[in-house]
Amino acid sequence: MNAAVRAAVRLGIWKGAQVIGVMRGFEGLIAGEFAELGLSSVSGIIQRGGTILLTARSELFKTEEGIEQALSHIREGGLEGLILIGGDGTFRGALELEKRGVPTIGVPASIDDDLWGTDHTIGFDTAVNTALSALDKIRDTATSHERSFVVEVMGRTAGYIALMSGLAGGAEFIVIPEVPLQIEELAQALKRGHERKKRHFIIVLAEGVKGAYQLAQELYERTGHEIKVSILGHIQRGGNPSAYDRYLASRLGAAAMEAIISGERGKMVGLREEEVIFTPYSEAISQRKEIDRKTYELSKILGT
Ligand code: F6P
Repeated sequence: MNAAVRAAVRLGIWKGAQVIGVMRGFEGLIAGEFAELGLSSVSGIIQRGGTILLTARSELFKTEEGIEQALSHIREGGLEGLILIGGDGTFRGALELEKRGVPTIGVPASIDDDLWGTDHTIGFDTAVNTALSALDKIRDTATSHERSFVVEVMGRTAGYIALMSGLAGGAEFIVIPEVPLQIEELAQALKRGHERKKRHFIIVLAEGVKGAYQLAQELYERTGHEIKVSILGHIQRGGNPSAYDRYLASRLGAAAMEAIISGERGKMVGLREEEVIFTPYSEAISQRKEIDRKTYELSKILGT
């Protein structure tokens, strides 16, 4: 997200705009926590994870009272347009502002990669690489001890982190919400792995399916094989962003600023096949990006 902030600030100033940062997302809008962002306020941040503007999940912005407070600060601060960085919750909030006459442009950032209107969301590639590096490490110990593991990754209701890190990490089996789990199929694959004297058996599980301990227990009951559990958790949401994430965020942050200055509004900016495109929020929120079933099936073949 820092790379997106940097790009929006630098492009905005280059175009002659005054750029104001809103701290803590919607919470900062409600509280009027604004700070002018100059060229050097964003120097040395492109390589840092998280966001210098801080972020928050705001319950107050879901109420009429919260929105009204935000609107009065927007007016008082003389803000002529807003760039919002986030996922579908952020764009739902942006729609509320739009309905009340505030021009906004959304920038998709979520490790879940579950938004329509862009090939990828900011943060996904870094999270996948973090999960991948954890999988490589787990494989070392799994192989040496000849153990099986369930590794749980984030993604909320989506399986993109699991699918990409699992395929890249050579997982024996990937379990994602988009493909109903056939537990017997997985149990049989695990048994076959033991019969073939595979040194490890790594199952990558997306958090949206079920808990890793529950899956490990169910498999133990069916196969009699003990399975270790590793839940990667919030390490997937930090660390130095990958080259792709910095590139994507730089392009999207700049495109969002250019769009808001030129009068575009009510849309999410995205990158599809290297082209900047704009998608109305309603579409970005309501449409669901499909998992590529062939890639999922391929992961099973390669994991045998
Ligand atoms: O949506 C991003 C995400 O990291 C999900 O993958 C995860 O389920 C959730 O946020 C965790 O949110 P929190 O840190 O608020 O518990």
